[in-house]
Amino acid sequence: MASVNEDFLNLENDYLFSIITNKKNEFEKNNPDKKVISLGIGDVSLPLVPVVIDAMKKATDEMAKKETFRGYGVVQGYEFLIEKILEVEYKKRGVELNKDEVFIASGSKGDLAGVAEIFSKSNRVALMDPVYPAYRDVNIMLGRNDIVYLKGTEENGFIPEIPKEHVDIIYLCSPNNPTGTVLTKEQLEFWVKYAKENNAVIFFDSVYEVFIDDENIPHSIYEIEGAKEVAVEFRSFSKLAGFTGVRCSFVVIPKELKLYTKSGEKVELNSLFKRRQSVKYGAAPYITQRAAEAVYSDEGQKEIRENIKYYKENAKFIKQELEKLGFIVYGGEHSPYIWLKTKNNMKSWDFFDKLLNEAGVVGTPGVGFGSAGEGFFRLTAFSSKEDTKEAINRIRNIFKK
Ligand code: MLT
Repeated sequence: MASVNEDFLNLENDYLFSIITNKKNEFEKNNPDKKVISLGIGDVSLPLVPVVIDAMKKATDEMAKKETFRGYGVVQGYEFLIEKILEVEYKKRGVELNKDEVFIASGSKGDLAGVAEIFSKSNRVALMDPVYPAYRDVNIMLGRNDIVYLKGTEENGFIPEIPKEHVDIIYLCSPNNPTGTVLTKEQLEFWVKYAKENNAVIFFDSVYEVFIDDENIPHSIYEIEGAKEVAVEFRSFSKLAGFTGVRCSFVVIPKELKLYTKSGEKVELNSLFKRRQSVKYGAAPYITQRAAEAVYSDEGQKEIRENIKYYKENAKFIKQELEKLGFIVYGGEHSPYIWLKTKNNMKSWDFFDKLLNEAGVVGTPGVGFGSAGEGFFRLTAFSSKEDTKEAINRIRNIFKK
């Protein structure tokens, strides 16, 4: 009898963003004359930049010729891309890493799941509440149900509270999805020290780092001394360069980072992840990696930063206009996410329904990210300028009354 892995039955029925898409589709079906604007899922609206397109075309041409065609790739990722990552993302910030500490793949969701697999099922996980739901679901799928939630509230500035009990794995996301807040150097120093003292490992998700505007806010956890012993870092080209439909990411696992066996021996996470990737992952496509490499050329950096500037202007506009309407608004400064407090204690899903039904605007209910998100709502700055303006006009019409 084929039986089910019952860990999967512990998941909530549907993934947050699928529920929202279904609600949006249903509304559109019933209101064919209304144009719905989505400021919900954080998907980019600007096309790939010209330098990236050129690199993809060139790589495609190479694939068309016998002399330059490439078959199976390198599990770890091509050196040409890893070298650029080390130089632009890390060396420039004073961080020294080796080539075999970076793994290229096809999106951070898969990387988060892959690294989490290597930790014992019995490990206790600390997640922020509110939290990007994939962190939680990945652990539930792996049968890791011992999850502690670290509340981020208005009172503590949406910074995860310190665990009251011992935890083995800590997820940190800065700039944060969904609240848009950032962790300062001092706060990261605290977590690195905490991880060292508790033999814990930090999963540091910094896929939104390109939105940071303040010199003093770290882009990488490795800017903190000692972090290489206790932290894995997740990065992606999705938000950095609009690769949501292309798929390319990387994860950094320093060789210094060790896990323990039951008998107390130390094992390298890096080599186990490499072993895992060679069995379960077929290497990111050559064309994709050439496209990602182009992001790091001088022209590529200029072009992608123009797009980021565009999204940041949207974020600023949304924040400013909502504040004019009397909303309390967080995020939107070093982040593409705007985290607003609903008015009159309205529940997140009621606010979602109000916005959809009365304004034809889709956002993400804060409670979908955890109970601490109740009464909050997330909007993204990733839409076009025109749609963002129109969405705000419609929201203004409801709330100015
Ligand atoms: C979000 O809306 O939170 C993100 O787009 C989700 C993701 O990157 O997977």
